[in-house]
Amino acid sequence: MPQYPREQPIIEVKNIRKEYPLEDETVVALKRINLNIYRGEICCIFGTSGSGKSTLLNQLAGMEKPTRGCVYIGGVPISRLPEEELAAFRQRHIGFVFQAYNLLPNLTATENVALPLMFRGMPQEQREAIARKMLCRVGLAHRLDHFPSQMSGGQQQRAGIARAFITRPDIVFADEPTGNLDSATTAEIMEMICGFARKFRQTIILVTHDPEMAAYADRVVKLIDGEIVSDERTPHSQTSPNPQTAR
Ligand SMILES: Nc1ncnc2c1ncn2[C@@H]1O[C@H](COP(=O)(O)OP(=O)(O)OP(=O)(O)O)[C@@H](O)[C@H]1O
Ligand SMILES: [Mg+2]
Repeated sequence: MPQYPREQPIIEVKNIRKEYPLEDETVVALKRINLNIYRGEICCIFGTSGSGKSTLLNQLAGMEKPTRGCVYIGGVPISRLPEEELAAFRQRHIGFVFQAYNLLPNLTATENVALPLMFRGMPQEQREAIARKMLCRVGLAHRLDHFPSQMSGGQQQRAGIARAFITRPDIVFADEPTGNLDSATTAEIMEMICGFARKFRQTIILVTHDPEMAAYADRVVKLIDGEIVSDERTPHSQTSPNPQTAR
């Protein structure tokens, strides 16, 4: 990814619109979104169910292509990249934490966490050594060889976090990462995600409908009916760049 001066946004969203054509109607999930996100920001996409949060995350992460407009990451127009280049780009620069953890059931915690390094061609011994280290850092030293079905939800999500951060991605996307967890575990998981991000100045895009989770972010972008209705810094915001939504 090209290196930009500090003020250059890591993610630029220019005029995106997302329509889903159904049989006899078209759902307009995002209307006209413009947004700049800066390196090191923990940015929360906040809104009620159906407001377009996941749709926006999917466009930002290049999982779907917008109907109109373009998303740039580090200046690269990801909405226009061919599928193969996009997959390689995601592998290099992006990590994901999922609500349902998405660990592979027939792999151990260590093997699951090592997977992104396998896709990068790292030999087994080396990648599993790094995975074990990551698992220790998320407090799972005693679960290295357990399968997902042998771990609690909170433990599975810690492994999910270890897997998302193992490649030191520039950006980690998390869609309701604590949606299935109790409030004490939610706090632990959020502190873990924010702790990694602050240490390595990574950018986090956190999708949630829960105001308590939004409080962990530096910045809260609120959606209603596919439109940004507010974009505010939180009191403890640790990043300095100008967060103004580009219009
Ligand atoms: N693949 C799809 N086909 C048709 N409509 C869709 C599709 N995906 C999303 N939508 C519609 O787009 C709108 C936004 O959906 P989205 O999943 O982004 O909401 P959300 O804010 O993430 O909600 P939740 O909090 O329930 O996850 C909704 O009206 C939804 O029905
Ligand atoms: Mg959603």
